[in-house]
Amino acid sequence: MTKPLRVGIAGLGVVGASLVRLLQRQRGALTSRTGREIVVTGVSARDRARDRGIDLNGAAFFDDPAALAVSDQIDLFVELIGGADGPAYAASKAALRRGAPVVTANKAMIAKHGLELAALAEEKGVALSFEASSAGGIPIVKALREALAGNSVRRVFGILNGTCNYILSRMEVEGLSFEECLADAQRLGYAEADPTFDIGGFDTAHKLAILASLAFGTKIDAEAIHIEGIEAISLTDLAAADELGYRIKLLGVAERTARGVEQRVHPTMVAKSSAIAQVMGVLNAVTIDGDAVGELTLIGPGAGGDATASAVAADIADIARGIVAPAFGRPVALLEEGERIPVQRHEGGYYIRLSVEDRPGAMAAIATRMGERKISLEAIMQKGRPAKDAASAAPVPVVLITHATSETAIREALDLALADGFLTQKPQVIRIERE
Ligand code: HSE
Repeated sequence: MTKPLRVGIAGLGVVGASLVRLLQRQRGALTSRTGREIVVTGVSARDRARDRGIDLNGAAFFDDPAALAVSDQIDLFVELIGGADGPAYAASKAALRRGAPVVTANKAMIAKHGLELAALAEEKGVALSFEASSAGGIPIVKALREALAGNSVRRVFGILNGTCNYILSRMEVEGLSFEECLADAQRLGYAEADPTFDIGGFDTAHKLAILASLAFGTKIDAEAIHIEGIEAISLTDLAAADELGYRIKLLGVAERTARGVEQRVHPTMVAKSSAIAQVMGVLNAVTIDGDAVGELTLIGPGAGGDATASAVAADIADIARGIVAPAFGRPVALLEEGERIPVQRHEGGYYIRLSVEDRPGAMAAIATRMGERKISLEAIMQKGRPAKDAASAAPVPVVLITHATSETAIREALDLALADGFLTQKPQVIRIERE
C-alpha cells in the first residue's frame, strides 16, 4: 500500500473537530476506498488548551496556520479558519506555493481569491478543492464539475443560506416576527458570527459565485452579483404569496440568457408546487437545469459540523486517490470572462405590493402606468377593509402579479405611479422565478 496521506488541519472549530472525528471513525473505510491511510499529523487553532472532545493522537500543534501549511509533516493542507483574507488566505497560498494540495470550506476566500489560488494550484500541479464551500453537505461542486460535465447548464439556482430559509419558513408557518426568528437562528448556531452576511444575502452571493463559475466556465466574479437580502420581507408578503400559490425564498440564481450570464441574489417568489418551494427550515437546495439531464434538485444540510466535514472528507479522499481536477472544471486559461449584467436588464414576472389611497381613480391610474410600459398583469388582489373600518381613509393593500416584463419597465412604471400621488409608501417588489 502507498504511504499514508498526512493531513494538516487549520481551524478546530465545529467543522474542524467534526472532521477529526469523521476521519477517525471512517479510517478503515477511507483506506479501503482510496487505497491510502489518511492520518491527521498536524493541527493549528487559536487556543491550544481548549478541550474540543477530540483525540488528536499526538498530531503536532502549530500556533501559526502558515507554519502548518509549509510544514514537511503534512502532505495536504485543510483550511477551516474562514474569512476571505487574513490567515486563511495567507496559509492556503503558502501551502500551494510549496506544492501541497489545499482543501477548504471557505466560501468567502474562494469567491474573492479563487481564481488566483486555482492558477497557483495548476502551476504546481496540485488540487485546490472546495466542495464544502457551497451548500455545505450537498455535493454540488462535484455534481457541476464532474457528474454534469456532459451538459450545457442553462440555469443553476438555489437556497444557499440555511439561516434565511429558517427565518422565512418560520415567519410563514408560525407567523413569527423576523427578529424573533433571527434570534433563534443565532441561538441554534446557524447564523454567521455577523448575521448581516446571512440576511443581507452576502453569504448566498459567495456560494453563488462559486456555482456560477463551475456551471458556466466563467472566471469567478462575486462583484458581478446583484444582491438583496430578506430584511424587507414582511408577514403581509408571506401571506399574500401563500394566497397566490407562491412561497418566498432567498435564492441565488445564475442563468444564461440572451443578454449574458445573470447572477443575482434576492428574495424570490417560487410556485408552491416547485421542488425548491418544498425545502423548509435550515436546509439548502440547488436546482440545475442542464440541456441533457433536464432539471434536477439536490436537497440537504447546508451547514453544521458533520455535514460540512462530510464534504471536506470527500475532497481529502479524492486527493488520496491522486485525483487532480481543475478547480473550476477547466484550466484557468480556458475560463471565460463573465459579463456583468445589470439587474435592470432582468426579464421575468414580478410580485408588486402597493399601499394605495382608497379614492376614485387610484387603480385606474396605476393600471394606466403599467399599460404605458407594456406590463401585462396576470393577477390583481385587493383586500377590502373589515366592515368596522369601512369608513376609514386608511390605505388599502393591493398586490399585482405581472407576466414576464423587464425590470426597467417595472421600475419606471412604479416611479410614475408614485409621482401620481395615490401610493402611500414605496412599493414592495419581489421577482418571480419560474420553473
Ligand atoms: N450561515 C450559513 C447558513 C452557514 O446559514 O447557511 C453555512 O455557510
